[in-house]
Amino acid sequence: MSDQLRPRASLRTAVVWEVLKDALDHRVKATGRDALDVLDTGGGTGNFAVPVARLGHRVTVVDPSPNALFALERRAAEAGVADRVRGVQGDIHGLFDVVERGGYDAVLCHGVLEYVDDPAEGVRNAVAALRPSGALSLLAAGLGGAVLARALAGHFTEARQALDDPAGRWGEGDPVPRRYTAKQLTELVSGADVEVGAVHGVRIFADLVPGVLVDTEPGAVEALLKLESAAAELPAFHSVATQLHVLGTKRA
Ligand SMILES: C[S@@+](CC[C@H](N)C(=O)[O-])C[C@H]1O[C@@H](n2cnc3c(N)ncnc32)[C@H](O)[C@@H]1O
Repeated sequence: MSDQLRPRASLRTAVVWEVLKDALDHRVKATGRDALDVLDTGGGTGNFAVPVARLGHRVTVVDPSPNALFALERRAAEAGVADRVRGVQGDIHGLFDVVERGGYDAVLCHGVLEYVDDPAEGVRNAVAALRPSGALSLLAAGLGGAVLARALAGHFTEARQALDDPAGRWGEGDPVPRRYTAKQLTELVSGADVEVGAVHGVRIFADLVPGVLVDTEPGAVEALLKLESAAAELPAFHSVATQLHVLGTKRA
C-alpha cells in the first residue's frame, strides 16, 4: 500500500514530500526538461526514490545495504517504475566511485547524516554531485524533538543527557548516533557552496500524540497533517521537531 493510502504513514513524509515536489517542479521549469536526473544518497528501500520516479524522473539510489537495494528493486517494479530507478551499492564517502560528479539536477540526503563518519564530507559530496543551480534536499534528526520526546515519556535524565551531549544522544541505548539543531544543519549546508532556501520542521507533533487519538478520531489524521504543514516553516517550532529538512540550491 502506498503512503498516500495509509494516512498515518503519510505523517512521516508529507511535509518533506510537498517541499521536494515543489523543488523538482521548479527545476523542471528552470531546465526545460520534464525528466530530471535525481540522486538519492542513502535512499534505502525507496521511500522517496520511488515516488520521485513516479513523477517521471530518473532516480539513482546509492546505498551500502544490499538488502535495502533488493527491497528497492522490488518496490520500484511493483510501482511500475523499474526502468527509472537504478540502485547502486555505495557509500556517500566514496560517492564518485559509483556516480558521476556534477551529473544531477537534484540530490536527496534523507536520514543519512546521522549515521555517516564525516557529515561535512557527506554534504560536500552530495553537493558536488549536483549540476549548477541543482537542488539539495537534506533531512536529519532534530535535537530538540528527541529531548522533548524523552522528557514527555518521563525519562528526564536521558532528556538532559541529550541536551548536554555534543552529538545529541540520550544514552548508550540511543539508536541514533547524531542529531542536529537547525543552525548546525544550515551551517553544514552553507559551508558547502549551497544557498539555503528553506528550513522545515518535520514531525513536530506527530510523534508526541498518543496513537489512539489519531487513529480513532474521525478526520484527526487530516487535521494533524494540516497542523504539521502550517507549523513546519515557523522557526519557533524547529527547535522541537523530530526531524529537520533543509532545502538548498547549489551556487551557480
Ligand atoms: C534511516 S535510513 C533512510 C532511508 C531513506 N533515505 C529514507 O528517507 O527513507 C538510512 C539509510 O542510510 C544508509 N546509509 C548508512 N550509512 C551510509 C553511508 N555512509 N552512505 C550512504 N548511505 C548510508 C542506510 O543503509 C539506510 O538505507
